[in-house]
Amino acid sequence: MEIDHVGIAVQDLAAALVRWTPLLGPPTGPPEVVPSNRVRVSFLESGASHVELLEPLDPDSPVSKFLAQRGEGIHHLAFRVADVDRALGEVIARGGSVVDRIGRPGARGRRVGFAHPRAFGGVLVEFVEVP
Ligand code: CO
Repeated sequence: MEIDHVGIAVQDLAAALVRWTPLLGPPTGPPEVVPSNRVRVSFLESGASHVELLEPLDPDSPVSKFLAQRGEGIHHLAFRVADVDRALGEVIARGGSVVDRIGRPGARGRRVGFAHPRAFGGVLVEFVEVP
């Protein structure tokens, strides 16, 4: 299973881009608002994968809660899958818990779904559907 991207929670997307652009180059496009996760994101290329910078839209965003508890840093690991519903179903079948039982709209027009951090020893795992 290929890593699609690594998600990094940041307080300020513009400030984070100033830090990351010298390392990875400019973002792939303008920042994108992802309403389903209440975040604004930018992607930077890293080989066949990406780094996703996530800034919360408001205090109710899950990323706001993450920042309050753990501060800025790695937020999730995203794997590329052909069928996000099946990937979530396999986690459930193995006794793991999930945030999403089926996929939902994510960044870049792709369907995504999150397992619960409990399922992977404290690591939040996202599946990204790339048909
Ligand atoms: Co992500």
